[in-house]
Amino acid sequence: MSSEVRFSLANKQQLIAQFLKVRQHSEIYCQPLEIEDYGLQAIADTSPVKWHLAHTSWFFETFILKTTEINFIPFNKHYEYLFNSYYNGVGEQFLRAKRSLLSRPTVKEVYEYRANINTRIVKLIESFDQVPDEVASLLILGINHEQQHQELFFTDLLYNWYQNPLLPSYQAQTADKINQGRSPQIAPIKWIAYPEQMTTLGVNNTDKFFVFDNETPQHKVYLQAFEIADRLVTNADFLQFIEANGYVSSDYWLSDGWTTVKSNGWKCPLYWFKRDGDWYQYGLNGVQPLNLGAPVSHVSAYEADAFARWSNARLPTEAEWEHVASKFEIKGNFVESGRLQTEKNEQPLEVKQLYGDVWEWTSTAYGPHPGFNPAKGAVGEYNGKFMCNQQVLKGGSCVTSSEHIRSSYRNFFYPDARWQFSGIRLARDL
Ligand SMILES: [Fe+2]
Repeated sequence: MSSEVRFSLANKQQLIAQFLKVRQHSEIYCQPLEIEDYGLQAIADTSPVKWHLAHTSWFFETFILKTTEINFIPFNKHYEYLFNSYYNGVGEQFLRAKRSLLSRPTVKEVYEYRANINTRIVKLIESFDQVPDEVASLLILGINHEQQHQELFFTDLLYNWYQNPLLPSYQAQTADKINQGRSPQIAPIKWIAYPEQMTTLGVNNTDKFFVFDNETPQHKVYLQAFEIADRLVTNADFLQFIEANGYVSSDYWLSDGWTTVKSNGWKCPLYWFKRDGDWYQYGLNGVQPLNLGAPVSHVSAYEADAFARWSNARLPTEAEWEHVASKFEIKGNFVESGRLQTEKNEQPLEVKQLYGDVWEWTSTAYGPHPGFNPAKGAVGEYNGKFMCNQQVLKGGSCVTSSEHIRSSYRNFFYPDARWQFSGIRLARDL
């Protein structure tokens, strides 16, 4: 749902059109796949494509049809257990790490499940003279939920394919993309200063536009004077860190980060490798020469933090990032560009690439905004129960939907996660 669409304007036709559009996109994104691709799951984090397709349908079935449809009968009584991700309020869940073992239902049956849920949701919405607020809210939540899983579709698929020495390509490499792959390093970072001041963080949950509960409520935050980098850290920047033995010296690393680097043997970002002395990067467009001018991606919060220390800088706090980004229009390299990879910066803005390309790690631990109040019932488990031990990321990536991002949006991952398009922007105290 576009963040600009007001609930008050969310009439039946708008809701149905947006629902069907997003549902269709999940299937359009699957078109380049072969049937064998649907079941891959390398690690617990990276769910199979088929599971994403089914789980997003389960969400609409469980949170809307089950409570609202007259004479509700589940599409399949076993699906509630198979495709419940983590909602304890709904019931037990099939083990996350074993989702690849679900060869049944088949891909064909999952597509039938999707079609069934689409038909029933549309019929339900059409049955109302005025869509009840609660149903409209859950439908819009389900649409945003499906967009989140569309992003996971890409990041999970990439990681799962990476296990295969054939390194499959999601889409063909065009001459344009290959040229991008050879773009040189770009201009040095410029620092943009912000004076100390009171600012607001988060948003209030009004009926103006959709936000996730974890973005609420709006509250005051005091910022010390700081400066922020006008662009993202590039692959060329990060290469200097590698060549300066950044992964070898413990000096720059948080204790947990150093333990993680040592135990995993990390020597570079995920998907980088060296062949005949040259660096390459694997991505959804296949293997390409390392794009020196593009933002570094697929680094953990530990690597981001170590790079920042090595650079005599630090990661921005969430409040700093949000304060800066809230002044800029939401434009950037999102999934709609079809490029599905990070790009060198070409924005004429004072602070560039705040949106799109890579999620930007912040130094802020993911926790509740003051006054946070999760929704009642099982759907309240959506965000709130993960507010421990994770870091906030901001701004969206090259596989995020442009309709899905805003300055208050809070993504969160464990600090050792690298399979998302996660990158680095530097900040400094003034
Ligand atoms: Fe989900």
